[in-house]
This record gives sequence, structure tokens and C-alpha cells, in this order.
Amino acid sequence: MYSPFKLLSKYIRFKVLASNAKGHGVHSPFVYNLIRKVLLDNRKFYAYESIEQCRRDLLKDKRVLNIQDFGAGSRSQKTNQRTISEIAHSSLKPKKFSQLLFRIVNYYQPENMLELGTSLGITSAYLASAKDDSKLVTMEGSKEIAAIAQSNFEKLNVKNVSIITGNFDDQLPAFLNRQDKLDFVFIDGNHRLEPTLRYFEMLLPKTKEGSILIFDDIHWSEEMEMAWKQIQDHPQVTVTVDLFFIGLVFFRKENKVKQHFQINF
Ligand SMILES: C[S@@+](CC[C@H](N)C(=O)[O-])C[C@H]1O[C@@H](n2cnc3c(N)ncnc32)[C@H](O)[C@@H]1O
Repeated sequence: MYSPFKLLSKYIRFKVLASNAKGHGVHSPFVYNLIRKVLLDNRKFYAYESIEQCRRDLLKDKRVLNIQDFGAGSRSQKTNQRTISEIAHSSLKPKKFSQLLFRIVNYYQPENMLELGTSLGITSAYLASAKDDSKLVTMEGSKEIAAIAQSNFEKLNVKNVSIITGNFDDQLPAFLNRQDKLDFVFIDGNHRLEPTLRYFEMLLPKTKEGSILIFDDIHWSEEMEMAWKQIQDHPQVTVTVDLFFIGLVFFRKENKVKQHFQINF
């Protein structure tokens, strides 16, 4: 993981080099559309308020959970105690990006979705609420965290989501064997080079024209930047959009030439 100073300097460099936030000069109708219709869509959707209220409640929740720490290594069985409030402060995607995920689903209308890394269920609730006739499966290694996410789905009355509890390394292959194609995957856990690329390779046969993969924290560490570069270079990947904190991967046969964009968001 980069130091806060290094990350900040990378962010400043990104901001200077990235394309205009309004899409001017972006020579791809597909990405121009993404910018104008999704990134810049500032409507307040109905689901936002109840999910953000749930986040506010989690940020104040002092109940202590025994959690398995999967952060440093997926095989790690180290357990420790953290309050829900601490987890909510450190692990959840901020509102700006959670709501962007909502709008991506709302715009592209994926049917079958997968999330790696449920945590307390905030992004899962956004993804599932954006298309309530879709099916979202979300995976979380830590049982006590998954139980809180489940209770949040019940509170928010989100019905089209199911949690698989267990290590991605064990659960993902079994899930993918049962699954036909995936339209949307958000990879938000185990941010290291080898597992990220391994999950990417496992997901590839389940993608189709129009599938979207979203990787979190692509500039968080040297390993994640290497993983992002290798994903961009993969022959099946045709368009990528780097928003610094997340990276979007598209599979579009129409794009004969690979295109990578860095967009100010
Ligand atoms: C960054 S949090 C997810 C945040 C969530 N998507 C949100 O923004 O609301 C990552 C989660 O992935 C879980 N995780 C990380 N590595 C894992 C692994 N190898 N297997 C299962 N879960 C894992 C962690 O326990 C943690 O709760």
C-alpha cells in the first residue's frame, strides 16, 4: 500500500493528466455517453436517502464484532475485534462512488451481478436497488460482518441480493461453476496482484458482450497498479475507464482498437 503522501501525489498527477470531466475531447461515443449520461447524472434517486441513513447508523454503531482479517492475505485466519463504526469508517466506498455504481447499474441494466467484498452491505444495497429485478450475489469472508450486511438488506427491504459467506478463493470457483454469464462484477476485496489477476482470469469466461467489471482501488499500491495494467493489456478487454479510485472494464466487439481513458470524476 502506498503512503498517504505518495497516493496524494499520484492523485494530483492523475487530476492533471485525466480527460475533462465533461467529456470534451473524448473520442469514443461509448465513453462520451458514459460520461454525459452516467458520471454527470446528478439526479437524487429515491433509494439514496435510505441507504445513506443506513450508512450514518453504521458509522455510529459501537457494537463489537469478531472479524477474520482477509485484508493482508486471503488465507489469513487472524481474528480481531472491531466496532461496526470502525469498519464503516475504513471499509466502505464513499457516497460519491457508491452512487456512481448505482447509476452504472441503472443505466446499463445488468441482470446477473456479483460483488466480491460485501462488508456491511452498503454498495450491495446500491447495486441491488438500482435494478430490483436483477440478481446480485455478494461474497464476504467474515461471518459477523456478513450477518450485519444481511440485517441491513432486511432493514432496507432489498430482496434481490444473497450473500455467500466464505473466502473468495474457496467460494468463487464453486459459484462460477453454477453460474452461466455475468453482466456486472464489482471486485472490492483482497487488493493484491496475484489474487486480483486470478479472480479476473476466473471471471473472463463468464463475461459476454456488454459485461462490465469494476475493480476497486486500482492505484492503491504498486501491486494493484500492476494488476490494473495487466487487465488493460488483456486481449479480450477493449475499453477501460480509470476514475482513479475505481477502474471500469468493458468488453465491446465494436471497439476494434483498444482504448483506455482516464477521466476526472
Ligand atoms: C473494502 S470491503 C468491501 C466494501 C463494500 N463493497 C462497500 O463499499 O460497501 C472488502 C471486504 O472484503 C472482504 N474480503 C477481503 N478479502 C477476502 C477474501 N479473500 N475472501 C472473502 N472476503 C474477503 C473483507 O472482509 C471486507 O469486508
